[in-house]
Amino acid sequence: MTRTYTLGDRTVNRLGYGAMQLAGPGVFGPPKDHDAALAVLRAAVAAGVNHIDTSDYYGPHVTNQLIREALHPYPDDLVLVTKIGARRGPDGSWIHAVSPDELTRAVHDNLRNLRLDVLEVVNLRISFSMMGPAEGSIEPLLAVLAGLQAEGLVRHIGLSNVTPTQVAEARALCDIVCVQNQYNVVHRADDALIDSLAADRIAYVPFFPMGGFSPIQSSSLSEVAEALGATPMQIALAWLLHLSPNILLIPGTSSPAHLRENLTAAEIVLPAEAILALDGLAASSGAAVPA
Ligand SMILES: NC(=O)c1ccc[n+]([C@@H]2O[C@H](COP(=O)([O-])OP(=O)(O)OC[C@H]3O[C@@H](n4cnc5c(N)ncnc54)[C@H](OP(=O)(O)O)[C@@H]3O)[C@@H](O)[C@H]2O)c1
Repeated sequence: MTRTYTLGDRTVNRLGYGAMQLAGPGVFGPPKDHDAALAVLRAAVAAGVNHIDTSDYYGPHVTNQLIREALHPYPDDLVLVTKIGARRGPDGSWIHAVSPDELTRAVHDNLRNLRLDVLEVVNLRISFSMMGPAEGSIEPLLAVLAGLQAEGLVRHIGLSNVTPTQVAEARALCDIVCVQNQYNVVHRADDALIDSLAADRIAYVPFFPMGGFSPIQSSSLSEVAEALGATPMQIALAWLLHLSPNILLIPGTSSPAHLRENLTAAEIVLPAEAILALDGLAASSGAAVPA
């Protein structure tokens, strides 16, 4: 299994880190333990993570400010990937924010809070429906981000929470270096999309790789884990790494112990019968699995 992949024009370790869990409850407000949050970020980079996923709307501003405090000046090989397309209400609500003004402000908020002159990768997060990816042209939104890229504020563009049709629409308009959608061993709607992106060397970055706020619970996952002397979350991550070389992982945690556990998932070799059992897990959960 290859340990690295291309993201834009950078090479990153396939096991990265997602910073969302560092903000307060509901991804709102400060972390419960500021110093512990800094320690998790520093431990991730010390362990070889060179791809961190964030957004200025986590907190809001909180995770970006933690990343800056923990890691600035940034190591040369570190790729910070952020996303725009939402803002937070005073009550912590998530508000779709894709007017030209809102997108532009979001890029500047990320630049300021991360203390960067240019953002390496910005994912345009689409939320036409609360239920997940939903059809609708994204051309006007992408045009704003492409304009900010032309100004030199954004190096590469990615997409998040999108349909295959929207990916195709976007790729006809500009270079897309990654797609970040919900995907994991029990949520496999993007199987075909992952293959088509892999064929064109575009990274696929699953969010909620371990199930998100309610980590995946499954007896099959636990059985495979027990047989291999690993934890269920390690198996969920190892399965993703095994699935396709263009999958980059950004597991989220606020716990140093979970971070260590997650980063060793790349060491796990899944035997054929384990892969079969894990594929069966998606089928039994009703997720779409290719024939
Ligand atoms: N594009 C988007 O719309 C979008 C949406 C959501 C997330 N994201 C990005 O994707 C990243 C990953 O998603 P996520 O953090 O929400 O979900 P996740 O990585 O699937 O799971 C995180 C949850 O699992 C727990 N956890 C982590 N490691 C564990 C372990 N070894 N054993 C048991 N529990 C463990 C964490 O709690 P502890 O803190 O206690 O470890 C947390 O509750 C985020 O950090 C964010 O950067 C993007």
